[in-house]
Amino acid sequence: MILEVKQLNVFIKTSHILRDVSFAVGEKEVVCIIGRNGAGKSTTLKTIMGFLKPESGSIRFMDREITGMPTFQIANMGIGFAPEESGIFPDLSVEENIEMATWQRHSSHSPEERTSLAYDVFPALTKYRKRKGTQISGGERKMLSVARALAMDPHLFLLDECFEGLSPIVIPKIAESIHEIVKMGHSIVLAESNIYHIPDFTDKLYVIERGEIIFSGKPIDLKNDKAVLKIVSGAA
Ligand SMILES: Nc1ncnc2c1ncn2[C@@H]1O[C@H](COP(=O)(O)OP(=O)(O)OP(=O)(O)O)[C@@H](O)[C@H]1O
Ligand SMILES: [Mg+2]
Repeated sequence: MILEVKQLNVFIKTSHILRDVSFAVGEKEVVCIIGRNGAGKSTTLKTIMGFLKPESGSIRFMDREITGMPTFQIANMGIGFAPEESGIFPDLSVEENIEMATWQRHSSHSPEERTSLAYDVFPALTKYRKRKGTQISGGERKMLSVARALAMDPHLFLLDECFEGLSPIVIPKIAESIHEIVKMGHSIVLAESNIYHIPDFTDKLYVIERGEIIFSGKPIDLKNDKAVLKIVSGAA
């Protein structure tokens, strides 16, 4: 397993947000964490990245315990995070945003190789190289956020709602780019609130509801679980 999360309990102030959350991501696997708004998806990803400290539980990445480590160290070990609110630098150009990511982590690939890979996977960004983060669309910002994670050359990607708020035309394009990243041999965790955004190349699904994992299985198994399906589609 590349990532193993076990019995994670997270409190924000006095609220118990994550309750015994456990899941695992294998080598080259695409794992989708599905849950309604407020279910605990972002809290889970932020805790893995070290932005939040769990009360109890363990997070292992490539057989090393990373629980409680500072964020920069976790990023350095090879986890690329694209936060829900994109996390790009609005005053920097697209090019500078990507370039900065190559400084953040040392890898066997040169910064030039990593930058050109980011543009290869997200060709739409090429023509906006010189534009500032504030001068591109929401969809392009999401692309830039994933492109930055890619330029870090991580082993594992954590992508928080990378399809949220995008038009039905842009969603398949981003899904295709993510599929390319998968084919390069990376592992991916996608957090999603919309079940229609689950890419068809997803290997494993976890459903989170009120801070608890209530389902795990293959996408096809979720289709057959009417009770859970009702919850995640907002009908319950
Ligand atoms: N800073 C905070 N202070 C208090 N409560 C918080 C804070 N951040 C998150 N929460 C609460 O934690 C719970 C989980 O939030 P989280 O952001 O993880 O949900 P999510 O599944 O990512 O939702 P969304 O789909 O809306 O992004 C929610 O009930 C939320 O209100
Ligand atoms: Mg969220």
